[in-house]
Amino acid sequence: MIKGPLHWTFGSQKIASSFGQKGLMVPSVQIGSPRTSRSRRLPFQYLREDSSLGARAYSRTVQLPRPNWQTDKPSPAFGKLWLRDNCQCPKCIHPDTKQRIVQSFSIPHDIDIVDVVAPRDQPIRVEWSDGHVGRYPPSFLDRSHVNPPNKPTKRGDLQWRPFETCTPGQKQYPTVSYSAVMASDKAVWEWLENIYRWGFCFVKDTPVNPGATEALLNRIAFIRSTHYGGFWDFTADLAFKDTAYTNEFLGAHTDNTYFTDPARLQLFHLLSHENGDGGASLLVDGFQAAKILAEENPDHATTLRKVGQPAHASGNENHCITPQQHYPVFGRHVGMPLLFQIRWNNYDRSIKWDWSVDDQYEWYEAARHFDEILRRPNMEIWTQLEPGTALIFDNFRMLHGRSAFTGKRRMCGGYINNDDFLSRYRLLKFERKHVLNNLGNLKRVEQNPFFYI
Ligand SMILES: [Fe+2]
Ligand SMILES: [Zn+2]
Repeated sequence: MIKGPLHWTFGSQKIASSFGQKGLMVPSVQIGSPRTSRSRRLPFQYLREDSSLGARAYSRTVQLPRPNWQTDKPSPAFGKLWLRDNCQCPKCIHPDTKQRIVQSFSIPHDIDIVDVVAPRDQPIRVEWSDGHVGRYPPSFLDRSHVNPPNKPTKRGDLQWRPFETCTPGQKQYPTVSYSAVMASDKAVWEWLENIYRWGFCFVKDTPVNPGATEALLNRIAFIRSTHYGGFWDFTADLAFKDTAYTNEFLGAHTDNTYFTDPARLQLFHLLSHENGDGGASLLVDGFQAAKILAEENPDHATTLRKVGQPAHASGNENHCITPQQHYPVFGRHVGMPLLFQIRWNNYDRSIKWDWSVDDQYEWYEAARHFDEILRRPNMEIWTQLEPGTALIFDNFRMLHGRSAFTGKRRMCGGYINNDDFLSRYRLLKFERKHVLNNLGNLKRVEQNPFFYI
């Protein structure tokens, strides 16, 4: 049993002179006073003998003792500049706001370590060559997210986060109750879990009025305002010049392809439908459709992932809204890399100029294939909305549409932003501390809150 603090002194001379020798020296790691007979060398190496790093990378890299250093496992190799910049002391990270307050760009680029003290179960203290004494809690080093970058596979370069898909006509679709969601955060969590897992969820027993419906949305986050307003309450009167505000058939699409940042969630609540019928709601699982596409023709999936398309919303005199750049149909997360977003709206697609004729034919063929999958009867989930049952769905995944209708319908609803939805979902699913401890984590494991994209 080892007791007392662990002292790990870096004589920079010693390290420099040892480089290039066969068999790198093990830094002098001592427990307690150097004079006691209990001190011993621990098998941490500054860098491994077979390291392929060049001299510069070598001098910029450090491994620290692990909190459970009796396990003989050194920490991963950290860049010194990174480690200094990510000091966890209250002078570097504001304890209340959690914001970085260290003057990152004043840190000398040749920053080095002078001394390391590792008291058991306490933050490791690192004395830096700029005079700062840094603190690194064991959990910080232990949960190190340094790992090989996730790479897409070569063929069929789309990968999927876990999700489940509903079968059209199945007995029961994901449903929660209004009173439960309004009463407890646990029920909100179950609600969001349903939306994330299945792509949509009904909320039964919703009071048939706009105020109650708005309050329901606010259980997740504030409502996303757009040029259509915040919370909508509308009839088919073309108040906004968009097909959604007519009584015509609407094919399966995602909303907001004309935004750089489309809304993540969309909720509809039918308040009334008088003197007519029709207007059934359509949902199609875009992830499932993308999976089928990739299985049937991986090249088509690649084309829809790579080729950006322009989009616009210009129906009203005072707007012409377009996204910052041309986005592809399949949005792939850069770091994971998993499919996380479908942008599919042929109504709002605008004119693409920057492609060759061959590229055009390739894209249209891939898009035609995807469109054909979306229209397969075993993909189309048709339901009839009723006053009292709200429908919410993931606009990054589920395509929606509706059949034509007659008579007068009054519908209300609204959007929720992606970031606000994910913040609420992750914090309900995991403890806040666990969420904060995983900031920046790209590991594809269930325990990582940021795996939920
Ligand atoms: Fe829509
Ligand atoms: Zn600090």
